[in-house]
Amino acid sequence: MSVHRVTVATLAGLKARNENAVFVTAYDYPTATFADRAGVDMILVGDSAAMTMLGLPSTLQIGLDEMLVFIRAVTRAAQRAFVIGDLPFMSYQPSDETAVRSAGAFVAAGCDAVKCEGGARVAPRVRAMVDAGIAVMGHLGLTPQSLGQLGGYRVQGKSLAAAERLLRDAEALQRAGVFSILLEAVPAETAAFVRERLDVLVYGIGAGPHVDGQLVISHDMLGSFVGEIAPRFVKRYAEVGSTVESAFRDSSVITRATCEAAHSPVPSTAIRSTPRTRRRYARPA
Ligand code: KIV
Repeated sequence: MSVHRVTVATLAGLKARNENAVFVTAYDYPTATFADRAGVDMILVGDSAAMTMLGLPSTLQIGLDEMLVFIRAVTRAAQRAFVIGDLPFMSYQPSDETAVRSAGAFVAAGCDAVKCEGGARVAPRVRAMVDAGIAVMGHLGLTPQSLGQLGGYRVQGKSLAAAERLLRDAEALQRAGVFSILLEAVPAETAAFVRERLDVLVYGIGAGPHVDGQLVISHDMLGSFVGEIAPRFVKRYAEVGSTVESAFRDSSVITRATCEAAHSPVPSTAIRSTPRTRRRYARPA
């Protein structure tokens, strides 16, 4: 059966019908397969893989080659979902050429679009990628690749002045040709204020309900994040971490019961000892 892939036009259609897109992160083949089968519209292969998959302290420590491993696994799995590759720190900031080459590598690996952080100051990079034929999602608000400048994981765009600055950045990205903007950690009113004034799709993570879809980090909703982060705005749908840990603790594993005949991968009769096999495989004296 042929599957209709989600495109930017599909996402615009959802918005036109006042329907939210379903948007999650995935970094590996099984998770992306399950998400795709479940009908998720968009998958972000986020640089949050640094923390969720590699146990690193922040997104600043993951590079392009590591991201490409995750991206290939996800694009291999996604039959329908629109896959966005998250450009890691320093893979687009240095120059337009770096940005186009990095984004090009993601598209060659199967991504439908790329995402990069920042507003007016990355607009020239966005324009260069768009001119190369690449769909780009902007990312504003809390942008973890600029953590040093933001002074930590803080809600952004709280005052009217800050919301206006955010809007100016969003407008610069829109002029540069992004197909959408992701707002992270901004008050719901700020997200609404920005979205109402833009033509492009606006998604949110920790940005309230007035957006075209909410991104959820799959580890947060599935309960598989190793660490202390548990965002209040994410509903938990499973406890994968504790389920897996219990399975490993299960006495059948601990006592090696899986080596019992009932769990043997080869029927024991196939190689049972007979006078013939004893003669044939007798150890030399
Ligand atoms: O890497 C990621 O998952 C992200 C989201 C937190 C927005 O960029």
